[in-house]
Amino acid sequence: MTRTPVNVTVTGAAGQIGYALLFRIASGHLLGADVPVKLRLLEIPQGLKAAEGTAMELDDCAFPLLKGIDITDDPNVGFDGANVALLVGARPRTKGMERGDLLSANGGIFKPQGKAINDNAADDIKVLVVGNPANTNALIAQAAAPDVPAERFTAMTRLDHNRAISQLAAKTGAAVSDIQRLTIWGNHSATQYPDIFHATIAGKNAAEVVNDEKWLADDFIPTVAKRGAAIIEARGASSAASAANAAIDHVHTWVNGTAEGNWTSMGIPSDGSYGVPEGLISSFPVTTKDGRYEIVQGLDINEFSRARIDASVQELEEERAAVRELGLI
Ligand code: NAD
Ligand code: LMR
Repeated sequence: MTRTPVNVTVTGAAGQIGYALLFRIASGHLLGADVPVKLRLLEIPQGLKAAEGTAMELDDCAFPLLKGIDITDDPNVGFDGANVALLVGARPRTKGMERGDLLSANGGIFKPQGKAINDNAADDIKVLVVGNPANTNALIAQAAAPDVPAERFTAMTRLDHNRAISQLAAKTGAAVSDIQRLTIWGNHSATQYPDIFHATIAGKNAAEVVNDEKWLADDFIPTVAKRGAAIIEARGASSAASAANAAIDHVHTWVNGTAEGNWTSMGIPSDGSYGVPEGLISSFPVTTKDGRYEIVQGLDINEFSRARIDASVQELEEERAAVRELGLI
């Protein structure tokens, strides 16, 4: 039986994450080894030539699953019939730019893209926002797409989730595959809270295995939360391959499901769970099945965790207030 290709739109396709992402989508890592894909590369006019070069390289891989590549600078064309949209292209913070300037510049990208998704995407569209500030950019896009169910707009905290697993494995000597049920709460920013109190290492409670609150507070949490900045310092450029890998993981898990007993972290519109104000796009522990996700309910949140979740959520509320003020939502 021949399957209908899934339309995957990638914005910022000519950027460094795009370059690390597209080849893995085309080789079947995003959706599955038996799922054909058509790629739509959305760029700004200055990025079109480089996107064409990447498309030539994609052709040269002769990927059996890749059924077509379109390149455009028109969001209405880029999102036409899209089933999955990876919003990677964003305006980076440059010297002298205030936070408000950054939010405003990104509003100019994510508001029209949200509208174009609203008007053109397929009914089953799933959106992942990678471009920073990812949570609030996702909120802007979602607000501009009133006809799309809000829960289809998600922001990437899977990179933080993967970073936290790796740090915890290094500390305890465990295999990464033995670590389950880790949670990133809040914003993809330095206020994020990686929570190991419900995580398990080979079935044992991770916080009990670590048994070192000082390490947790002074080492683990800041290392995970500031890892993006550490990569920029070391590489002279922000994380790209690991970000692309996390984007692949995020969508793959959303579409194909979490393993029994495990969960993942996704930035999603809050339904008010765990005291996170409704509508904020905040990271939660989620399970996924049949292309849908659900927040893991009923976790006990201790004082240590509560204070940190609240701080990150407060930052998200401030970002929401700022984009509201700018008329972006
Ligand atoms: P990059 O500068 O290499 O590439 C960005 C690309 O986006 C450029 O090719 C640019 O032309 C394009 N672009 C800009 N505006 C666009 C628009 N309106 N439509 C389509 N394309 C547009 O950046 P990168 O390293 O690929 O990173 C992309 C974004 O991802 C940045 O905002 C970065 O901060 C963010 N990021 C997020 C995470 C996360 O965990 N959420 C991790 C790493 C990076
Ligand atoms: C990361 O976490 O690596 C990025 O979000 C950092 C950045 O500012 O691009």
